[in-house]
Amino acid sequence: MTRLEITMVGAGYVGLSSTVALALAGHRVHLIERNIERLEALQSGQIPFLEPDLQSAFQDCQKNICIAANLTKALKTSSIIMLAVGTPPTPAQGADLSQIFAALEDVAPLLDQTPKLIVVKSTVPVGTNAEIRAFLNSRAPNALFAVASNPEFLRQGRALRDALFPDRIVLGTSEPWALKLLHQLYAPLQHASVPETLAQFRPTQPIPMLEVSPESAELAKYAANAFLAMKISFINEIANVCAATGADVSEIKAVLEQDKRIGGDFLRAGLGYGGSCFPKDTRALSQIALRGGYEFRLLRAVIEVNSEQRFRVLQQLERRLGGFRGKRIAVLGLTFKPNTDDLRESLGVDIALELQARGAIVTAHDPTPSKPEGIDFTSDLNACLTGVDAAILVTEWDEYRNANWKDLGRLMQRKLILDGRNALEPRDMLAAGFEYLGVGRKS
Ligand code: UGA
Repeated sequence: MTRLEITMVGAGYVGLSSTVALALAGHRVHLIERNIERLEALQSGQIPFLEPDLQSAFQDCQKNICIAANLTKALKTSSIIMLAVGTPPTPAQGADLSQIFAALEDVAPLLDQTPKLIVVKSTVPVGTNAEIRAFLNSRAPNALFAVASNPEFLRQGRALRDALFPDRIVLGTSEPWALKLLHQLYAPLQHASVPETLAQFRPTQPIPMLEVSPESAELAKYAANAFLAMKISFINEIANVCAATGADVSEIKAVLEQDKRIGGDFLRAGLGYGGSCFPKDTRALSQIALRGGYEFRLLRAVIEVNSEQRFRVLQQLERRLGGFRGKRIAVLGLTFKPNTDDLRESLGVDIALELQARGAIVTAHDPTPSKPEGIDFTSDLNACLTGVDAAILVTEWDEYRNANWKDLGRLMQRKLILDGRNALEPRDMLAAGFEYLGVGRKS
C-alpha cells in the first residue's frame, strides 16, 4: 500500500471515526481540532463522546495520529486535506457552511505548487464543491489543487464499523489525479488491522467505489438520508393505520422484510426519527429543491409525518391516563438513539418538556449522564420509576429491553407503559402485570 499523509479538520463523529479508520489502515493522519476542551481530551488519549469501539481503537493506532489545534504544520506534509466540520442548520433550514469556509481561510494561504487534494466529507448542499473551488482560485490563483466531494454515511453508535467497512465509498471529482489518490486512500481500509469486535464485519467483497460528479456526490448524501427517513415515516404511517384497523405493525414488518426489494432496515415503527442528521438533512434537501424551483412533495410529507408522530403516539397514553395534568411520568431514554450520548434533536428531551408543559410531573432516566436543562433527571432506574403513574420508553437502550419489568413494576403506582420504540415484548409485559401500549401493535 501507499502510505499517505492526511490532514483531517474536525474531530466530531465523522472526523474522529474516519481518522481512526484511516490510521488503522496504515495512513498517517494529522487531526485538527479547534475546540480546546476536545483537543485536550484527545491529546490525553480520551475520545470526547460515547462511541462503541472508538476509544480502544484510538489508543491502538496512536502512533499514526498526530493531534493539533491548527493545520499550518500538518499541511506541509499532507497530500490530502479532509474537511469533516459541522454544517448545522441555519434559521432558514439550509446548511450553515461557516465552519467549512473558516477552515478554507486557513488552508488557502498554505497552498502552492505541490498538488493538494481537498476532500469534503461534511454534508453540504449541491454546488458547494464548485463554490470551494472558486473560493480557493480567488485566494490562491497559482496554487495546484483539486476538490473532491466524498460524503460520509456512518451512523452514530456504530461509527467506527461504518467508517472502516462502508457499504460504498463515493468519489465526487472529475480530476483523474484526484481519483487515483482517493483510490490509494481507501483501498487499504478492507485490510485494516481492526479491533477484534469488528473483525467479523470485514467485507469479503471489495468495497464498491463509485466515481461520480461532485454535484451527484453532494446530492447522493441527502438522497440517502431522505430515503431512510422516508422508510421510517412510511412504517410509522403503517403503524398508525394498524392502530386504526386492528392489524399489528410488527407482523407487517416481518412480511415486508422478506421482500428483498424492500428490505427490513429502517422499518422500526416508533415515535419518529431524531438526531443531528435526518431532521436537518431532510429540511435542507427540501430547501435545496425549492431553491432549484422544485417542490419535493414526498419529502415534505416525510417531515410532517415525523413531527406529528410523537404527538399521535402520546395521545394513547393521554387517553389511558385521562389527561396528563398532575400525573407522574417516567421518561426512559434521552439520547436520540442507544449507544450514543448525543442529545441533539432528542425526542426524549422534547417529550419530557411537552409533558411538563401539559402539567405532568416528569422524571427522566438515561444510561448516560445526560442532564438536560429544565428536566428532573436521575441515573437510577428504580428511583425514576418509583411511584409513577406511567412510564414512556423513548430510546431503546438494552438496559430497558433486558430489565426485570416484574420487579420494576412493583415500584410503580400504576403499571402502565408506553413503549415508544416497540422494544419490549407485549406478552412479557402483560405477564409482568403491565398495561402495555405500543406503536401500531396489538397489546
Ligand atoms: C444517519 C444515517 O443512518 C447515516 O447513514 C448518516 O451517515 C448519518 O445519519 C449522517 O448523516 O451523518 P444517525 O443519525 O447516526 O445516522 O442514526 P440512525 O441510526 O440513522 O437513526 C436516526 C434516527 O432514526 C434515530 O432517532 C432512530 O431512532 C430513528 N430510527 C431508525 C427509527 O425511528 N426507526 C428505524 O427503523 C431506524
